[in-house]
Amino acid sequence: MTTASRWALAAVMLLAMIGCEREQTNQSGSGSTTAPTTGAAGVEGGGSGTGKKIVVGYSQIGAESAWRTANTESIKSEAEKRGVELRFADAQQRQENQIKALRSFLQQRVDVIMLSPVVETGWEPVLREIKAANIPVILSDRRVATSDESLYATFIGSDFVEEGRRAGKWLAEKTKGQAVIAELQGTVGSAPANDRKKGFEEIISKHPGMKIVKSQSGDFTRAGGKQVMEAFLKSPEGSSINAVYGHNDDMALGAIQAIEEAGRKPGTEIVIVSIDGVREAFEAMVAGKLNCTVECNPLIGPQLFDAVEAVVAGKTVPKRITVEEGVFDQSQAKAALPNRKY
Ligand code: AHR
Repeated sequence: MTTASRWALAAVMLLAMIGCEREQTNQSGSGSTTAPTTGAAGVEGGGSGTGKKIVVGYSQIGAESAWRTANTESIKSEAEKRGVELRFADAQQRQENQIKALRSFLQQRVDVIMLSPVVETGWEPVLREIKAANIPVILSDRRVATSDESLYATFIGSDFVEEGRRAGKWLAEKTKGQAVIAELQGTVGSAPANDRKKGFEEIISKHPGMKIVKSQSGDFTRAGGKQVMEAFLKSPEGSSINAVYGHNDDMALGAIQAIEEAGRKPGTEIVIVSIDGVREAFEAMVAGKLNCTVECNPLIGPQLFDAVEAVVAGKTVPKRITVEEGVFDQSQAKAALPNRKY
């Protein structure tokens, strides 16, 4: 080989190496929206470190309650704060929409999938597809029914059974164990509806004078709570009802309207306890119309994105992360109201 042809060959090899390096930089660069990464180490949060943005696909249940609105806001603002790209899908309370969204996130090869499942059952097939693609799943707010814990990295949310117990204990104390109760259940098949019923019944079963005479789902919405309560009040048991247990504040607020329209007095004639601790529930307590709210904290964005960053960095996170919560009645409402964050 002549000296000239040796130089030509070296130049060709150098150009080929530069081209190859450019190609690799493009695949992992911050401009990529179809990230091939599957949660392996080397991808860092907040757009820092390697400069690659974490991409999270999130399937939210819907916008059925004030709690849900606050939850969505907490998640969106935390993603923004950390420079995480959040692909948000509102399922409008339908499981089939959630499954479609999950499959779409899978195709997009997002780094992490976050899911707030509307109901407990029916998730295993899609979660197995996601697992096969090596994309970590974080369950937010509600659990799924599965005995295979390898299908998700962690579940962050409240202890709904304990919330039901707290509501039951408060009502037992308030009524001295004597209550004819109308129960407004949450979405049929959802973890909070199942668990809040279970926890509440566990407590009232110890008080022979406490009985649930009517129980129906109001789907966690205010309109649903109002409609169901109207029917309860018109039923043969209607006039005997002297307590309402709402699985969330929105349904209790709807029930308050129905009770007033029926010419009865919420908060005195009918004692009302519900769950969430939204601002409007505190206002209703100050107005003497709601008696107690058991807190369920929706502001879990920071905890969720700590977990997102940890799993992307290849760290192990606890399978279950719970949230600290309290119980508030009318005597605390006025002082607590200015500090309510949702
Ligand atoms: O899963 C949490 C529950 O869902 C909240 O209590 C309720 O308000 C919401 O819709």
